[in-house]
Amino acid sequence: MACQYFQPCDQSADTFTIGLPKLTFGRGCLNEAGARAAARGLSRIALFTDPFLKNGPYVAIVQKSLQQAGIDFAIFSEIRIETDDTSVMNGAKFIAEGNFDGVISVGGGSVMDTAKAALVYGLYPADFLDYFGPPIGQGKPIPGPLRPHLACPTTSGTGSECTSVAVIRINDLNTKFVLGSPLIMPDEALVDPTCCDSLPANIVASTGFDLLSHAIECYTAKAYTRWGKVDDPLKRPYLQGANPWSDMAATRALEIAGEFLERGVNDASDKEARDQLMWGATLAGMAFGNSGTHLPHALSYGVTHLMHDITTRDYEVESPFIPHGISVIASAPAIFRYTAAGAPERHLEAANSLGANAWDAGNDEAGEVVAGRIIELMKKTAMPNGIGDLGFGGADIKRLAASTIRQVRAIANAPRETNLQDIENIYAAAINYA
Ligand SMILES: [Fe+2]
Repeated sequence: MACQYFQPCDQSADTFTIGLPKLTFGRGCLNEAGARAAARGLSRIALFTDPFLKNGPYVAIVQKSLQQAGIDFAIFSEIRIETDDTSVMNGAKFIAEGNFDGVISVGGGSVMDTAKAALVYGLYPADFLDYFGPPIGQGKPIPGPLRPHLACPTTSGTGSECTSVAVIRINDLNTKFVLGSPLIMPDEALVDPTCCDSLPANIVASTGFDLLSHAIECYTAKAYTRWGKVDDPLKRPYLQGANPWSDMAATRALEIAGEFLERGVNDASDKEARDQLMWGATLAGMAFGNSGTHLPHALSYGVTHLMHDITTRDYEVESPFIPHGISVIASAPAIFRYTAAGAPERHLEAANSLGANAWDAGNDEAGEVVAGRIIELMKKTAMPNGIGDLGFGGADIKRLAASTIRQVRAIANAPRETNLQDIENIYAAAINYA
């Protein structure tokens, strides 16, 4: 099966490259931050976090660890949730003026992504869109290496500690785009599940569906052998399509999400489930960071671009706000009903890893099997039942699709050709689920 999916064809890629940070995982490992920074010879750290975490216990642990290692540091915390170009450029100024030889980020995806992008613009100043890909950006390569970055996630979803992408809201365009380069992958990830012990249920759910969707998108993505060969091997992107290595990490992440998502959301005292979700998020990050996501993430950016007046339980963020994981999963069942025809066996395998138990299902049932299992998990965790519950209706479909069609690379990574009309049809089918 895997061999067939990855069968090279004329002029297509026949090689993949896997990039990973050095990974440390376990309860209490935030205490190792200072020793690990010292081992890299770092003497002055830019410590990135957000205003909610700044005075909390996890940042305090990292600060103490740095002090014990004799490392100087300064804190940057002007980062909005669902970060934007303003946060990045303020962070870049902080980097440019602070004489730092390394960065530690402590937070969710917004904090880690801001640190990644701030290093780029702090060291290599440019117009903001220069390093973003077309059609919105110039696609210029980042000119050289960055500083060492140790990333410490505080939620079990983003996987950003293991990826070469940063998702940034561009305020002038009022939506999010992906900055991607092998150079922005953190050098080390310190993944401490203690950080998730006190997270509210809805944050565990939203971030958990983000990890679930990373894994299933990665597993069902277009094969790397369906992308073109690269001229310069050192410029091969990590977002290169599904490959045998990303399959391995995505499969285990799906098994974890299938077994532990409901438990981790609905019982804050279930440490086993929450530890497993943290491991699953990191695995899914290592998976999609080496393959890329596809339509669920592409369509999520249309949703957050055009969201109406809306707030979300358990998030202390002003309207309009829809957390990333919810914006991703709301359209996912309708998307997989569409994409399954492009790679039905892989959709069935992914659904079964997620606990669908549909071993006898035929290829023509693949989309329904994936959608059914996702909807089941959404119901068990009190998620919105489609984009209708996020305030969207039929009148929004054309604008949603027009926004999403700009996410060129993610759309091209889908296992099935997808045009503007297809995206309109998917949004219409995602308003609510029976
Ligand atoms: Fe995501």
